[in-house]
Amino acid sequence: MSPQQKALFLLQKQGDFEIGTRSIPSPGAGQLLVKVQSAALNPVDYKIKETGGFITHYPAVLGADIAGIVEEVGEGVENFRKGDRVLAHGNFTNELAAYQQYTLTIASFTAKIPPSVSFDSAATVPLGLDTAVVGLYGEKFGAGITPPWTKSLGELKTPIVVLGGSSSVGSYTIQLARLSGFYPIITTASPSNEDLVRDFGATHFFDRNLSGKQLTAAIREVTDSPIGLVYDAISLPETQAIGWELLAKNGTLVLTLPPSVKEDEGKGRKAFQTMGNPHVPENKELGRNSWAQVEKWLSEGTIQPNNYEILPNGLEGIIGGLERIRLGQVSGTKLVAHPQETQ
Ligand SMILES: NC(=O)c1ccc[n+]([C@@H]2O[C@H](COP(=O)([O-])OP(=O)(O)OC[C@H]3O[C@@H](n4cnc5c(N)ncnc54)[C@H](OP(=O)(O)O)[C@@H]3O)[C@@H](O)[C@H]2O)c1
Repeated sequence: MSPQQKALFLLQKQGDFEIGTRSIPSPGAGQLLVKVQSAALNPVDYKIKETGGFITHYPAVLGADIAGIVEEVGEGVENFRKGDRVLAHGNFTNELAAYQQYTLTIASFTAKIPPSVSFDSAATVPLGLDTAVVGLYGEKFGAGITPPWTKSLGELKTPIVVLGGSSSVGSYTIQLARLSGFYPIITTASPSNEDLVRDFGATHFFDRNLSGKQLTAAIREVTDSPIGLVYDAISLPETQAIGWELLAKNGTLVLTLPPSVKEDEGKGRKAFQTMGNPHVPENKELGRNSWAQVEKWLSEGTIQPNNYEILPNGLEGIIGGLERIRLGQVSGTKLVAHPQETQ
């Protein structure tokens, strides 16, 4: 029998999670086998359990955010070796998912972790960062801004509003907005997260508990320049309404969830849902290019990982962690599990 490992399975569509065993896979061409030290949790995972979306085969292993140690290198992979510490963006198949002790990763969406960064910190990066990258720089699923690694943009002196700056997606969007030279970078969060979002690079902070009217008025006061780009990391109907109201003529509202605002008449504003997954064909080239920056961004501190909290009981801890995310009980933090500690 091939070597076995523990994994957290979603047993069936809209079913329960349960720990089980599955074979440790072998890497194919362009892939790595990674021993998962840290796996970060994302809202999409409780949504998959609730709605049955994204997944076609059950029992399913979920999880997009992977940090661990390279165990085996597939054919054609030249830039990684056994023993490397890496982070990677998983995908919606059992072979490429985070909530297990060993997973395959696609080498082009994998990066080395600099010595100064822990596995736990690194695990907070992939999905949040990729969703920010695609939303800002994607042609199909983004605002189509020139990525900062292709040419220096200098100071754009263009405003950006990031609604939900303390969320994982929001925090990476603020950091990339700074890298791209946007100014001012205006964000919303709870007052307890003001210092956090300012550390990421927000220049103006507003309490997300203000009414939509108050927030819109306060944000408008910040700048005389037209607001051409709003990234709504939260994308609830109430935040979308604020973003839409703030947008100048021909502006872009990037959303993480489906639009609830109505297409424009006359003003040319657009609103669309981004897609932070680098594995889809439309994002592959952008993903390869941005993943080539990740080790440098982390070692230079250009991108700071999210704060994190370690969950107890290895993979089992993910079940309660996802429930806390569902209930909105996680603020400015990513929950991280240690699959190797599974009983
Ligand atoms: N389309 C895609 O490809 C894609 C990819 C990734 C995520 N998503 C979706 O994007 C959303 C965010 O994901 P995430 O992982 O970044 O979430 P997260 O980190 O778990 O979000 C938690 C944060 O949301 C903030 N928040 C909640 N309601 C808010 C509001 N009304 N205004 C401002 N901030 C608010 C909270 O801020 P405070 O604690 O400061 O109040 C908290 O820090 C989720 O719905 C997720 O499913 C979509």
